[in-house]
Amino acid sequence: MTRSEELMSLEERYGAHNYHPIPVVLERGEGVFVWDVEGKQYYDFLSAYSAVNQGHCHPRIIAALTMQAQKLTLTSRAFYNDVLGEYERYITRYFGYDKVLPMNTGVEGGETALKLARRWGYVKKGIPANQAKMVFVEGNFWGRTLAAISSSTDPDSYTNFGPYLPGYVIVPYNNLSALDQALSDPHVAGFMFEPIQGEAGVVVPDEGYLRGVRELCTKHNVLMIADEVQTGLCRTGKMLACDHENVKPDLLVLGKALSGGIMPVSAVLANDEVMLTIKPGEHGSTYGGNPLACRVAMEALQVLKDEKLAENAERLGEILRHELRAIPSKRITAVRGKGLLNAIVIEPQNGITAWEVCLRLKENGLLAKPTHGDIIRFAPPLVITEEQLRECVAIIRKTILSFE
Ligand SMILES: Cc1ncc(COP(=O)(O)O)c(C=O)c1O
Repeated sequence: MTRSEELMSLEERYGAHNYHPIPVVLERGEGVFVWDVEGKQYYDFLSAYSAVNQGHCHPRIIAALTMQAQKLTLTSRAFYNDVLGEYERYITRYFGYDKVLPMNTGVEGGETALKLARRWGYVKKGIPANQAKMVFVEGNFWGRTLAAISSSTDPDSYTNFGPYLPGYVIVPYNNLSALDQALSDPHVAGFMFEPIQGEAGVVVPDEGYLRGVRELCTKHNVLMIADEVQTGLCRTGKMLACDHENVKPDLLVLGKALSGGIMPVSAVLANDEVMLTIKPGEHGSTYGGNPLACRVAMEALQVLKDEKLAENAERLGEILRHELRAIPSKRITAVRGKGLLNAIVIEPQNGITAWEVCLRLKENGLLAKPTHGDIIRFAPPLVITEEQLRECVAIIRKTILSFE
């Protein structure tokens, strides 16, 4: 047995079978590269689902982590700590909101946003007690808690986990007239959506959708909640995907790259009218706002700006899509994306599916993962250079054509 096989069998034997990983066992990462336990080097084209936008083990973020780790890591919110206030000022100024509510994982950010929206719905909008509704779109993905899967339209996510949370309404994505109708119900408190759907397979809405959502939410006095856990923090070529249409959501949910892949850090940003509807003791998390997370998040955010990662993602994303479209294979039926959040659709032929393509990409030194059977996401760390990107395109091209 190789070392990789040994380690995979450990997971198989002792771990829950809730994932189906590509068979590679990684032990080290730096920038756009990761190495397996046999020492083979790969380009990481998933970036831990866009958590590692700043690249693996970014030296500045690791320095912030280790410095703070030697001083103070967790106080809980029973006491003040000397970093949280500084972080709260930093991140609210960075994104232009009155206040932030710090949490840990992305799904907790979504839950927090929904609780804020419901609370606002009752105390500000005047929705009768326990009748608030939340609107979501088909194909949404915001995590795996019961509140999250209650909104899911993917049977793998929700089957045999019921009963589900009530008060949810689902409308088609990228459809403003359906949204207009749903939001006209006076019991609707919020509309939560991804500006580009990540897990659904990088589904980019039509130009004007984000502006339309903003207008409809304002028209119906409904909170616009942008889940930018995957699309935010420079991934799509702007700081936020909402910036592509210059719209500002009422609630902004961030996670993943907020820590540069170092630890779970999430946040909900909103103005006082919404945020101050939750009072002491009404929401929280032991680890939310811990000093270690605050230091890491400030450094991770500063790196995005200092290294101009939005600009890099925008420019290299154009090149990537252009080059992928030039691959002469009928197997690729679509290339789509924005910035460095991209996907190709692979039509299964002669038993060759996206999974087989990903296995061969791995053999050729590039790691990617299929979603929904036929879609492969291409989302490298945003620190990738043009030269590295072109090398990756050559690997993808060679791999796809090797099946012809
Ligand atoms: C858009 C979006 N929201 C929320 C989440 C959930 O984040 P987490 O897995 O950190 O709970 C994800 C995870 O993939 C996501 O893509």
